[in-house]
Amino acid sequence: MKERPEEGLIGIFDSGFGGLNILRGIIKELPEYGYVYLGDTARVPYGSRSKEVVYEFTRQAVSFLFKKNCEIIIIACNTASSDALRKLQREYLPENHPSKKILGVLIPASEEAVRKTKNKKIGVIATEGTVLSESFPRELLKLCPEAMIYQKACPLLVPIVESGEHNSKIADLAIGKYLKELRKKKIDTLILGCTHYGILENKIRKIVGKNVKVISENKAVPKKLRTYFERHKEIENRLGKNEIRRFYSTDLTEKFQILGKKFFGKSIKVERVELV
Ligand code: DGL
Repeated sequence: MKERPEEGLIGIFDSGFGGLNILRGIIKELPEYGYVYLGDTARVPYGSRSKEVVYEFTRQAVSFLFKKNCEIIIIACNTASSDALRKLQREYLPENHPSKKILGVLIPASEEAVRKTKNKKIGVIATEGTVLSESFPRELLKLCPEAMIYQKACPLLVPIVESGEHNSKIADLAIGKYLKELRKKKIDTLILGCTHYGILENKIRKIVGKNVKVISENKAVPKKLRTYFERHKEIENRLGKNEIRRFYSTDLTEKFQILGKKFFGKSIKVERVELV
């Protein structure tokens, strides 16, 4: 039998800081493995960019992470999962890294929502890019064809979180406004389809009330990753149990330290890199 390598790592990619929240959830569930995080902070936000640009940025990011010894990459960004994941899996991976894997966050969140809904009315809040791509309705309807899906783009929520206003009245007003329509549709399950919304989870829960189940990716993704590794030993066997934590970003500002700490829960040491 082949020996377990020392340095097979798990890559986590996000357009910026939000994916740190998902990384935190994954580390809690699977602390023994090594992780490399890449945030494209110089080019965030992706949510309002075209599909072509999001694909190209995401391709550059995954190439970088594969060069850093990643055996599997989780695209924590919903916009990149929506606009780039399928093409990367179908075209880029077979040509460049046929034995490696790239996963996204949409399927775990959708599976959890379908498992939880009773009345089959599911709401999704996300960036404009994710909503326009229709990727959540596509995944949800594959799992539950009779479901009714109601989406709402919430373009103000990412800037509210990034500017540190997540505990303010402004956040309450924006969330209240965005969720008004979805509440009228009598949804019983709501997917937080954007990395940043995890920071607003408590507020969102309060506004939608306890009859609506809130699906947060920082809980859904780690659980599914564990079962994925149980089913895919050929990948799991290539991962080192080394507890490595490495962080890269495409821009280094003070904001990274502040937001990095907020999303990750503790200070992190970050190295700046250029993506090509
Ligand atoms: N990471 C993005 C997402 O989950 C949100 C931030 C952005 O627009 O880049 O869709």
